[in-house]
Amino acid sequence: MRRQSMSQIVVSLAAVACCAAACSKSKEPAKQPPQEAVKEPAKEPPKEPPKEAAKDQVEVFSWWTGAGEQEGLDAMIADFKAKNPTIEVVNAAVSGGAGTNAKAILANRLQAGNPPDSYQRHAGLELADDIKAGKVEDLSKLYEAQGWKDKLPKGLLEAITIDGKIYSVPVNIHRANLIWFTPKTLQALGIAGPPKTWKEFLTQAKAIKAKGKTALAIGPAWTQKHLLETVLLGELGPDKYTGLWNGKTDWKSAEVIAALNTFKQVLEASDIKSAAADWQPAADRVIDGAAVYTVMGDWLDAYWGRAKKLAFKTDYDVAASPGTAGVYDFLSDSFTLPVGAKHHAAAEKWLIECGSVEGQDLFNPQKGSVPARTDADKAKYQGYLATALKDWQDPATKIIGSLAHGVVANNALSSEIDTALGIFVASGDSAGFAAAVAKAYAATK
Ligand code: GAL
Repeated sequence: MRRQSMSQIVVSLAAVACCAAACSKSKEPAKQPPQEAVKEPAKEPPKEPPKEAAKDQVEVFSWWTGAGEQEGLDAMIADFKAKNPTIEVVNAAVSGGAGTNAKAILANRLQAGNPPDSYQRHAGLELADDIKAGKVEDLSKLYEAQGWKDKLPKGLLEAITIDGKIYSVPVNIHRANLIWFTPKTLQALGIAGPPKTWKEFLTQAKAIKAKGKTALAIGPAWTQKHLLETVLLGELGPDKYTGLWNGKTDWKSAEVIAALNTFKQVLEASDIKSAAADWQPAADRVIDGAAVYTVMGDWLDAYWGRAKKLAFKTDYDVAASPGTAGVYDFLSDSFTLPVGAKHHAAAEKWLIECGSVEGQDLFNPQKGSVPARTDADKAKYQGYLATALKDWQDPATKIIGSLAHGVVANNALSSEIDTALGIFVASGDSAGFAAAVAKAYAATK
């Protein structure tokens, strides 16, 4: 992961903290009312209702509104409320997978100087943009006070640190490179198991089409980007995939173009012409049996396993996406303390919840992710999550970062890729896409 040097962090709380009371007090001496000749009997001042202690609050911003996402957040909020009964939680979640809508709204709020008290950001270059723009506070002191530094994996800490300062609190680790299916459909189609390579997927896809089904269910643009990342990873391998983000792999090279051609074929085997509105309805098509596979991160385990109450292994199953066995394409949801947060102390308390063992062990089993902390209670992670935790902690696992979920590309590059990908999906011009990304990479690094 590229390390970003940061020249400026503007942490000017003083400028933001305008004391309303002080501002409204006039400095002029109070004028005396004119003396009246005849004094009226003194009236009793009207009795004011007893004042209740003002309730503190914390506004938490995320995109976890949907089935399989909201439950995790709710579990952590409930624990927070039990520990902080005087703080009201304002859940400002905005719907839309991968934060497609939430990120736009957040950008406007940050621009207008009206940040929530804490917002969700992916660890990695997505967060680095906010750090460099001076939008989030250095949390190093909180880390020291809570003893968090020893409780998080070193690589993850690096993804949220710039110039020795730490800027967010990771709640989880998600895995992006997964292909999901139902054993029932595979059996009915006579397919022995999920494809181990994209070539095998394309062979299976032909047979699946002949039987009147769709090989792959897909959703909106961000799910196509998610698929692109897994195809590039599967075709190029982890080192060359990482090279795409550190300049060592040439986007215009023959092998990258070949991988992009594979992606094109994979898309052709999908239902992109009638793509689902989001990742949950795409996943529904697999459960309905209309489609055989979907490529999605492990938040899908929460959707099927918890929200839909399906049984892992019997009702649904999962494998590493083709060509990526032994690789963990990771992303991490983390929470920040924005500069200018209105409820600073309450926001710190929220972050303490996010970084706590209890908070993480309540959140992650519901969310379909493994804990960011290394000392969480393993027994709480069952079914798919037991294998995820084992793979995540296995020293032989190769860990690389997600494109679609903020780890390896900064926001400028990511949005150039979105534009180029939209054109690529419509035109099928692999070389054109590679050239556009190569240019954007050079311009934004
Ligand atoms: C990711 C996020 C996950 C999950 C997913 C689908 O970007 O990190 O926690 O919410 O989007 O919405």
